[in-house]
Amino acid sequence: MAQVETRQKVLVLDENFEFSVQDRPIPKVQDGELLIKVIATALNPGDWKIQRWGVKFGGQPVIPGMDTAGVVEEVGQNVVGFQKGDRIMTMGTWTTETSSFQQYMRTMARFAAKIPDNISDEVAASVPVGLLAAWIGLYNDQHGAGYPHPLVDESKFKPISKPLLVLGGSSSVGQYVLQLAKLSKFSPVITTASLHHTDYLRSLGATHVLDRRLSDEQVVSEIRKITDAPFETVFDAISSTETKLLGYGLLAREGKILTCDTRFGEFTLPAPDFPEIESDPANPKYVVPVKGVTVLPETVGMAEVLFKDLTRLLKDGVILPNKVEVLSGGLHGIPEGLVRIENGLVSGVKLVVRPQDTT
Ligand SMILES: NC(=O)c1ccc[n+]([C@@H]2O[C@H](COP(=O)([O-])OP(=O)(O)OC[C@H]3O[C@@H](n4cnc5c(N)ncnc54)[C@H](OP(=O)(O)O)[C@@H]3O)[C@@H](O)[C@H]2O)c1
Repeated sequence: MAQVETRQKVLVLDENFEFSVQDRPIPKVQDGELLIKVIATALNPGDWKIQRWGVKFGGQPVIPGMDTAGVVEEVGQNVVGFQKGDRIMTMGTWTTETSSFQQYMRTMARFAAKIPDNISDEVAASVPVGLLAAWIGLYNDQHGAGYPHPLVDESKFKPISKPLLVLGGSSSVGQYVLQLAKLSKFSPVITTASLHHTDYLRSLGATHVLDRRLSDEQVVSEIRKITDAPFETVFDAISSTETKLLGYGLLAREGKILTCDTRFGEFTLPAPDFPEIESDPANPKYVVPVKGVTVLPETVGMAEVLFKDLTRLLKDGVILPNKVEVLSGGLHGIPEGLVRIENGLVSGVKLVVRPQDTT
């Protein structure tokens, strides 16, 4: 009889916030959940931020990692639509047993979607976090801009037909914002990026790509050649001090800048170098931190809508996943990959590891 695996390798962030690969029990599936063998997980900036900023959350030991693709090992009670052996993608929630920097994890079935045959596990792992941030940012009314989302019957769809500025279009989040902007029919869709990404970003939905190394004055001048209309919404997919100030300055009265400076409810990450932007009562504008997560009562419903349609969106090429670079060494490859992300050495791709390759 085949031996049932009970132990697994995990990447732990220890009390000194150093990474090490350790041995732990495989989690037990709970009601409404799936136990997944993690075949591929993508790295996100949030994963280096919790290390660098010393954030403790989600139980002990701390295991980061959210973007997940894998195979269903076990189906919990009250789950419909999934069975053992299904290839799925899902989003971890940064608790010890529901994070993806491990070989097995639990996840809520309602935030999982089957991976279509035309998408590899590695590529599927690049989707959930970036796409959900873009989705919540544009369409959630509390943690985003609150526009009506486009996944409705054709008869109910209304083009948004307003200009959108996306700072950082080549980032993972930015690429998904451009694609959703195209679906929602914002116009024009202006983005900033390194110019070697221009053709690709246009194919995703940007109507205009501006060099991200232009001065703020030059960016404003280029934008004014494209449109005089003020921006009701700026999506700042980078959210550095510089991009936030640029985006805020370009907002219309009552406009919103959607920022991605990772904040997760009670696990708010400190972001010490972000200036507080004071709103001028005579010219009110709003900074809206996007919460691209599945765990908040205000985001659960919208996250479910997206996961329900995700298989179709990828199968039909309505949403294109990020390009990926697969790192070697399984979980051992993660710390070096996170250093590359932190140092701005990743351009237009998602770094992915295969936890089962961990020795
Ligand atoms: N709140 C949420 O729910 C949530 C979810 C996901 C991510 N985030 C946050 O969103 C941000 C982006 O994450 P990500 O995974 O999308 O990042 P990423 O893909 O790792 O970002 C890398 C890209 O950023 C671009 N970039 C860097 N500085 C830029 C600048 N000043 N202007 C324009 N582009 C710039 C680079 O562009 P070029 O290659 O073109 O030079 C590169 O392609 C991070 O701060 C992350 O923590 C938040």
